Amino acid sequence: MPLIAFTSPKGGVGKTTLTAQIAAMLARRGHAVLALDLDPQNALRLHLGRPMREDAGFMVELTRRPAWRQAMQPTASGVQLLAHGAADQRRALELGVALLDHPELLVAPVRDMLADPQQVVLVDTPPGASAALSALAPLADLLVVVLLADAASASLVPQVAGGRQLGRGTLAARMAERSVVVLNQVDLDSPLSRTVMDMSVAALGERLIGAVCRDERVAEALGDKRLLADEAPGFGGAAEDLVLLTDAIAAMARLPPPGRPRGARPALLDWGFR
Ligand SMILES: Nc1ncnc2c1ncn2[C@@H]1O[C@H](COP(=O)(O)OP(=O)(O)OP(=O)(O)O)[C@@H](O)[C@H]1O
Ligand SMILES: [Mg+2]
Repeated sequence: MPLIAFTSPKGGVGKTTLTAQIAAMLARRGHAVLALDLDPQNALRLHLGRPMREDAGFMVELTRRPAWRQAMQPTASGVQLLAHGAADQRRALELGVALLDHPELLVAPVRDMLADPQQVVLVDTPPGASAALSALAPLADLLVVVLLADAASASLVPQVAGGRQLGRGTLAARMAERSVVVLNQVDLDSPLSRTVMDMSVAALGERLIGAVCRDERVAEALGDKRLLADEAPGFGGAAEDLVLLTDAIAAMARLPPPGRPRGARPALLDWGFR
């Protein structure tokens, strides 16, 4: 526990970037972090520094019920990665259909991941609706909706504020209670960006939990296989915003305190075993 999913009704807003950066920052703080990529673009692995040539993954094998522990890939940041794996369009569509018919293919292993009370599971999702997100959303402790501070995202704020991007009915309403919003690529020198931010504050209130400024170093970090968690503290820019966002997410998802022994045998420890 817990499960935190990064979603958006729109593509290219920074879901994968934020998933990787927040995962790395949580790992740096001592949390046991598992990052699961549900997106057939299979890009999270690159943000976490795995080699481009690698095309193995967990999701792509899902119909064969893979053992998730064996599919985990270590990364330099300490985050354990469950990559999507390479999937052409046909395979991606087949997977979607399989998940619509049998959501338990994904729900069962994720429940198993969440059974470890020390483990934090971060999920990167494809843009918009997907069978994988529909399967997992009811398990999520926090749905982080990422939007840009631009006109196209602004038009989606009322929909997100009303929780309508998650569907209709009581289940969607319950999930909407657990969804929060982050504005990414904010540029305080741009009047449009400032207006969208003000409008989002007014429409979303406390559900707007963070903003990340537009910062070239975010894209450069990806190119250099670096994570902003590695930057010096007080660096400013997006690195500082990401630290604040990590604090907000950790508080909202009620993360267990980091650094306790993993896979622990508390009873054995109580009995004096070391
Ligand atoms: N705060 C930022 N400042 C500058 N560039 C950013 C910032 N956040 C993300 N980017 C850049 O924006 C682009 C899109 O980011 P990313 O791939 O994370 O979006 P996404 O929502 O995962 O996209 P998709 O919907 O295709 O999965 C990338 O080139 C990334 O480097
Ligand atoms: Mg992405």
